[in-house]
Amino acid sequence: MKDSSFSSPSCSSNLSLPKIILFLFISITLFYSIYTTNIICFPHQNPESLTTQTHLKTPPPISPVSKNLQTHLPKNESKTSLEHIVFGIAASAKLWKQRKNYIKVWWRKNETRGFVWLDKKVQVRNDDVSSLPELRISANVSRFNYTHKYGHRSAIRISRIISETIGLGLENVRWLVMGDDDTFFVVDNLIRVLEKYDHNQFYYIGSNSETHLQNIMFSYNMGYGGGGFAISYGLAKALTGIQDRCIQKYPGLYGSDDRIQACVAELGVPLTKELGFHQFDILGNPYGILAAHPVTPLVSLHHLDIIHPIFPNANRVQSLQRLKVPIRLDSASLMQQSICYDGSRGWTVSVSWGYAVQIIRGIVSPREMERPSRTFRSWYQEADPTGFAFNTRSFEKDTCWEPFVYFLSNAIYDDLRNWTASEYVLDRVSRRTCSSKKGADPSEIHRVEVYKTPDPFLWDKAPRRNCCRINPTKKKGTLVIHVGECREGEIIEVHSENKNS
Ligand SMILES: *[C@@H]1O[C@H](CO)[C@@H](O)[C@H](O)[C@H]1NC(C)=O
Ligand SMILES: *[C@@H]1O[C@H](CO)[C@@H](O)[C@H](O)[C@H]1NC(C)=O
Ligand SMILES: *[C@@H]1O[C@H](CO)[C@@H](O)[C@H](O)[C@H]1NC(C)=O
Ligand SMILES: *[C@@H]1O[C@H](CO)[C@@H](O)[C@H](O)[C@H]1NC(C)=O
Ligand SMILES: *[C@@H]1O[C@H](CO)[C@@H](O)[C@H](O)[C@H]1NC(C)=O
Repeated sequence: MKDSSFSSPSCSSNLSLPKIILFLFISITLFYSIYTTNIICFPHQNPESLTTQTHLKTPPPISPVSKNLQTHLPKNESKTSLEHIVFGIAASAKLWKQRKNYIKVWWRKNETRGFVWLDKKVQVRNDDVSSLPELRISANVSRFNYTHKYGHRSAIRISRIISETIGLGLENVRWLVMGDDDTFFVVDNLIRVLEKYDHNQFYYIGSNSETHLQNIMFSYNMGYGGGGFAISYGLAKALTGIQDRCIQKYPGLYGSDDRIQACVAELGVPLTKELGFHQFDILGNPYGILAAHPVTPLVSLHHLDIIHPIFPNANRVQSLQRLKVPIRLDSASLMQQSICYDGSRGWTVSVSWGYAVQIIRGIVSPREMERPSRTFRSWYQEADPTGFAFNTRSFEKDTCWEPFVYFLSNAIYDDLRNWTASEYVLDRVSRRTCSSKKGADPSEIHRVEVYKTPDPFLWDKAPRRNCCRINPTKKKGTLVIHVGECREGEIIEVHSENKNS
C-alpha cells in the first residue's frame, strides 16, 4: 500500500536492523508505553518530616512587569500566563488509580486549565473532583490502522488529544501542553519557558530522550511525550486540520509522540529544544541529572514509577510533595546548581537549590561538576557514558572522592531579609574511611544551611549559574552557604585568601 513511502524510518525499518537492536527495542517497549506497564511500587517508608511547614511563608506576589527579553514576542499582547495554557494529559483507566496521585501534586485547581483523556470511564471520588482536571473519554479510533508489532494502538487515541482539545473551542488559549499521567510539571517554570515565544507562530517545544539509542530509533527531532511538550495554538490548529489524514499515513509508527512529530514535520516545523523537560528514559537514581541540572528552568519530570524516588526515605508521591516547598518559595531556582570551594578544608561544594547539596573532598573543576554523575543507567542497562544524549561522569565509588550528599529537609522564607533559608541533611550511607587524602573529613558536617534571595526574574536574564559562598559559622557540624548572583569579576575557583590557611 501507499504507506511504504511515508512509513517511519525509525520503526518500520527496525526489522532490518541487527538482531541486538531488535532485542533492545522489544525490551524498551516494555518500559515505553504507560499503557502496557504496571510498575507501581510505593515503598512504605516514612518520609523525613518537613517540620514547621504550617508556618511557611511565601515571597510576596511579583509584579507582572519585568525587564523581559521578549525577542520572539509580538509587541502588543500581554505576557503569557497560566490562563493561556491548556493541558492535555494522556491517561489510561487501568493505571488511573495510582497515576492520578502524581497529577494531584502539581495540578492547581481553578488555576490550571486542561483535561485528562482516558480510554474509558473510571471511578471518581469526591476529593478527585476538587484536586484533579476534568476527565474526558477520548473518541473511538478503531477506524485507524495500527500496525506496529510491539506497540499499542492507544497511541492513536493519545496523539489525537491535540485535535480533540482544539475541537472543544476553548477561548484565550495560546499553548497546548501535552503530558502523561506520570509527568510532574513545575507550572511556573513552564510559563517561564513559553513566555519567551510567540504563540501566534508555529512552535513545537520539548526535549529529547536521555538515552541516545531512543533518539536514534525515534528521532532527535521529536519532543518526547512523557517529558511533555508544548504546541503553540497556531500550530495546534494547523495540526488539527491535517491530523486524521496524517495519522493514516503512519500506521507503522510506535507511539503517540512520534505520530505527532511525523505530522509536525509535514508542516516543516522543527523541535525547539528546551532542556528543562525531562523524559527520564533512565533507570535507577536520577540524582546525577538533577544535581547537575542544565542552566535552564526545570519544567517536568517523567517516568516517576520507574526512576527511584527523588528523595531517600520518601516514596514517589511524598518526594514530589517535598519539592512543592522550594517551588513555592523560589520556583525559578529549583535544582539550579551553584559550585564553590572551601579552600581551607579542601572541599568542592555543589548546591542544587531546593534539592541537594554535595561536598566532595578535593577540588573538582566546574566543567566536571556540571556533568551529571552516573547514578542512573540508560534503558539499555549499562552505565555506559556513550549511552546518553549528553555528557556524564562516573559516580565515584572511591572512598576518598565519593560525595557526601545532603538532601532538602526544610525550607522557609524570611520576609525581613527577603531570603529563603533551606536546610539539607546528610544522607546516611555507610562509608569506609578514606586515609590517603589530606584535608578535612566532610563527615563532620551533618547539615547544610543555604541562604538565597528568591529571584523570580532569573530567566529574564542571560543564563548563568548563581555563585555560592561558604560562610564561617559557630554552629557545630553545619555548613552555611549563601547563594546569589555572581559579583562583578567573581569566578568559580578556589579563592586565594583561604587557599592554604
Ligand atoms: C496585535 O497586532 C497584530 C498585528 O498588527 C494584530 O493582528 C493583533 O490582533 C493584535 N493583538 C492585540 C491583542 O491587539
Ligand atoms: C474553584 O472554583 C469553584 C467555582 O468558582 C469553587 O466552587 C471551588 O471551591 C474552587 N475550588 C478550589 C479548589 O479553589
Ligand atoms: C468503536 O467503534 C467500533 C466500530 O464502529 C465499535 O465496534 C466499537 O465497539 C467502538 N468502541 C467503543 C469503545 O465504543
Ligand atoms: C487499513 O489497512 C487495510 C489493510 O491493509 C486497508 O485496506 C485500509 O485501507 C487501511 N485503512 C486506512 C484508513 O488506511
Ligand atoms: C526580594 O528580592 C528579589 C530579587 O532581588 C526582588 O525581585 C524582590 O522584589 C524582593 N522582594 C522584596 C519584598 O523586597
